[in-house]
Amino acid sequence: MSDDLLVIDNVHGGYGGADILTGASLRVSGPEIVVIVGPNGAGKSTLMKSIFGLVQIRGGTISALGHDITNQRADLIAKAGLAYVPQERNVFPSLTVDENLDMGGYLKKSDAAHKDRIYAIFPQLANRKTQRAGSLSGGERQMLAMGRALMIEPKLLLLDEPTAALAPKLVDETLDKIGEIKALGVGVLMVEQNAKQALARADRGIVMVMGKVRMEDDAANLLARPDLPELFLGG
Ligand SMILES: Nc1ncnc2c1ncn2[C@@H]1O[C@H](COP(=O)(O)OP(=O)(O)OP(=O)(O)O)[C@@H](O)[C@H]1O
Ligand SMILES: [Mg+2]
Repeated sequence: MSDDLLVIDNVHGGYGGADILTGASLRVSGPEIVVIVGPNGAGKSTLMKSIFGLVQIRGGTISALGHDITNQRADLIAKAGLAYVPQERNVFPSLTVDENLDMGGYLKKSDAAHKDRIYAIFPQLANRKTQRAGSLSGGERQMLAMGRALMIEPKLLLLDEPTAALAPKLVDETLDKIGEIKALGVGVLMVEQNAKQALARADRGIVMVMGKVRMEDDAANLLARPDLPELFLGG
């Protein structure tokens, strides 16, 4: 077993009927930013859920930092060093910003300095510590969801479309935070539809089509491809 942050090896699985993941493999080796793109329904969210034990894996293995996490419980996967931000319902709306961060840290008693580091990355949140999460803007809420996930001091952060439904200006602002997260020594594996903007900030890109990784390359190489739009559509 390796010390890679994440190794997904030939994973098959889904929701009860036919498999959605049909032999997905990928690796995140260190604190790098890896972006997954691909057409709607390709299984990108299903792959993220399968990493976090939320989808039944029927074949293949997933390991994180040397631990086999295949079909493990989410709390054990978090202990192995992974944190996951789903696309929706990723904050507690009735709790304040500060309480959301505390909830994020309940599995691991983070020190106050760590919370301050998170507030330093997201100053908008620092100004709204006592505001209820339900009253935040869409962009602020995504930042809170990321901050909450960072409270357990993960080695790898999984993000499912952190910029979905955000105004264009907020897309750039949100993606810029991901570079700051990497600077903390945290790897980021994220699904993104705003592919160009995400790849521009990423180390590697992965194109997923029909439950498999169709292509994998340096983000700069993928960005330079004239057929990039077709790749997203699975062409
Ligand atoms: N809870 C579920 N139960 C049954 N089928 C599901 C469930 N969630 C997703 N699926 C199906 O699995 C397939 C892959 O869905 P998934 O959400 O992983 O795609 P995606 O690549 O994330 O797409 P998008 O870009 O639209 O977010 C789709 O055909 C979808 O209908
Ligand atoms: Mg999805």
